[in-house]
Amino acid sequence: MPDETLTIRDNRTGREYEVPIVDGTIRASDLRQIKVSQDDFGLMSYDPAFLNTASCRSAITFIDGDRGILRYRGYPIEQVAEHAGFLETAYLLLEGELPTREQLAAWEEEVRTHTYVHTNVVKFMEGFRHDAHPMGMLLGAIGALSTFYPDAKNIADPESRRLQRVRLIAKFPTIAAFIFRHSRGLPYVFPRNDLDYIGNFVNMTFEIGGRHEPNPVLQRALEILLILHADHEQNCSTNAVRGVGSSHVDPFSAVSAGIAALYGPLHGGANEAVLRMLDEIGSVENVPRFIEQVKAGHGRLMGFGHRVYKSYDPRAKLIKQVADRVFEQTGLNPKLEIALELERIALEDEYFVSRKLYPNVDFYSGLIYQAMGYPTDYFTVLFALGRLPGWIAQWEEMLGDPEQKIARPRQVYVGPAEREFVPIERR
Ligand code: ACO
Repeated sequence: MPDETLTIRDNRTGREYEVPIVDGTIRASDLRQIKVSQDDFGLMSYDPAFLNTASCRSAITFIDGDRGILRYRGYPIEQVAEHAGFLETAYLLLEGELPTREQLAAWEEEVRTHTYVHTNVVKFMEGFRHDAHPMGMLLGAIGALSTFYPDAKNIADPESRRLQRVRLIAKFPTIAAFIFRHSRGLPYVFPRNDLDYIGNFVNMTFEIGGRHEPNPVLQRALEILLILHADHEQNCSTNAVRGVGSSHVDPFSAVSAGIAALYGPLHGGANEAVLRMLDEIGSVENVPRFIEQVKAGHGRLMGFGHRVYKSYDPRAKLIKQVADRVFEQTGLNPKLEIALELERIALEDEYFVSRKLYPNVDFYSGLIYQAMGYPTDYFTVLFALGRLPGWIAQWEEMLGDPEQKIARPRQVYVGPAEREFVPIERR
């Protein structure tokens, strides 16, 4: 028994139990010994939506939601966003350490040589309706990659896992850019391997007639946004990747489950929802009325609130700085004024203050994406592109964790007790 323990007294039986406390947690399975009789199943913990349950031990990302701290592999997000590139951040998340110059060059080269997709990917992309939602296309297309790489099933083989990791990171921007072009009815632009990761992606989305003038300020801004999204420990989509991956399916399928989770408006879809909300509000004068409606329970202030941050989301702070640099280049997004007024009022209003509701990463990111020329329904694709290294790192960590098994929660059954089947003529 470790030094720290918890004594539990079961008032049903009068018996006492001592369970170990490790890293500030008790094991839910230690509760199973607490029974009222020999054939009792044993005590379970009940925690819908995992409000107070750690599902894994992880060495990737640290968050202190009360103090607004986010670190990747120990490095503060502010420093990573200032100094690192996106592929460098991906390397850090995946390998656990910052790469040396040589390691980074080799990693970038490896990614560069896998950017092309099978031409049949182009064919099935063409099958999507012209107005298909980009996230629907993304989750279909990434899931379909598993059919192009059946070797991805060999998840026990570290070499195979490594190859799929490179394929995912390299091909994701290509597919994301095809989706962008598909929505606009433009011909697909293929990867240019003389460009870097971000430059290539931007070129594949915006090049027209063989021409695109890259704007280094906007490209670095996009890179910072992707870095800020790269991992966020056990959020809804990462939990989906881990949960689905725990069945030992290939990583393309597991990542497409993450994309599906991210699609929802309470998660990655919030950046899209923020822009729609700003459109609905229309002008600064309407902000107080809108806030009153939210407080009265009609809708939510999208881009506000977070399950773990109960102070200002550190990513939102950094994104505000990025916004200033972007708007210097593109001119002010008129909706920014509405967003700033919403934030100003919400940060002073008792309803939001008492519930510790602050702007999250999605509150300002949509405004920046829009200024860069991305349509609203495409924002979450950019989020997914950023989150990809985190999903893969978490998937690999889960596979390498000897304590992990197929994810299979328990339930508290509250349906009818056993009853006799009623034939259809008697119902
Ligand atoms: N606007 C108004 N009220 C809110 C908001 C909001 N955005 N968020 C939470 N609340 C209120 C709830 O109504 C509740 O009030 P009550 O105690 O009077 O019932 C209280 O604050 C607690 O809210 P919960 O829903 O219990 O908080 P939870 O941790 O489950 O939800 C979530 C977190 C989903 C992010 C929520 O804050 C929300 O819906 N925000 C808007 C959507 C959004 O921006 N999502 C992006 C999250 S960041 C990301 O995924 C990248």
